[in-house]
Amino acid sequence: MTLRHLLRDDDLTPAEQATVLDRAAVLKAQPFIERSLEGPRTVAILFDKPTLRTQVSFVGAVTGLGGYPMVVDGRLAGIGVRESVADVARILGPQSAAVVWRTFAQADLEEMARYAGVPVVNALTDDFHPCQVLADLLTVREAIGDLAGRTLAYVGDGANNMAHSYLLGCATAGMHVRVGTPSSHPPAADIVTAAERRAGETGGSVLVTDDPVAAVQGADVVVTDTWVSMGQEGEAEQRKGEGSPFEKYRVDDALMAQAAGQAVFLHCLPAYRGHEVTEDVIDGPRSLVWQEAENRLHVQKALLAWLLEQVGEGLR
Ligand code: NVA
Repeated sequence: MTLRHLLRDDDLTPAEQATVLDRAAVLKAQPFIERSLEGPRTVAILFDKPTLRTQVSFVGAVTGLGGYPMVVDGRLAGIGVRESVADVARILGPQSAAVVWRTFAQADLEEMARYAGVPVVNALTDDFHPCQVLADLLTVREAIGDLAGRTLAYVGDGANNMAHSYLLGCATAGMHVRVGTPSSHPPAADIVTAAERRAGETGGSVLVTDDPVAAVQGADVVVTDTWVSMGQEGEAEQRKGEGSPFEKYRVDDALMAQAAGQAVFLHCLPAYRGHEVTEDVIDGPRSLVWQEAENRLHVQKALLAWLLEQVGEGLR
């Protein structure tokens, strides 16, 4: 039995990712067949950044598994401010079955995982948002079937958490992942390298380009994300105002027309209509954003059940 975490998308092997997605599909059809948290056991769910989908879906997932979701406002707890991350981890771990944390620095999340002694799940950091990509992959499976060999094109801010997670998560799924982003906002080089390595094992591929049309051409899935991520509010004007570097990466009908005929559109939300995506696209027939948002619940439930299974009761 092993203590496992989901800190970044490639923490799951291709086979493990497929197992979690299979399990999510089963739990979507039969929501209450897994009772891994019966007791109820507590799962600590911590937020240092705003949330809607993540809070609702993790509370639903923990409750659905028979557990108690303890939501903690990170500002009140002062994690890493009032006391160190390591000390918080050593408080939470013995009283929780798992820790779910949305925060800024990936290094802090890693420190939590080092000291908590229970599975730690990344509920979004500046670098990654792996639970969102699991939900996206489930949505793509539901819409177009097997993931391997399919192409997902992300256009927009290539340096943000979603771009990084698509690179790693889609490469793990054996997909061809393309990132269309201005050369001023490339994904981190080490993450591109990790995605290429993973794609080499799964038959997928990785392309980073500053040409949005080249990114989207023939793609099965087109995705984007806000141009101003949480924590970047101070740069809002330069990121989305006049002269925005992302202007030509907006997903509109003309860009969608470059994708495959049956291509679907995804967005992790919140969306800013008229900026990264037009109303016609996000509210149009190819958009699966509401199904995608609901799928957060199912994949997170499957993920928690799987992580708890890896730990086994002996370690608790
Ligand atoms: N890149 C966005 C994702 C929101 C779910 C952010 O970090 O704010």
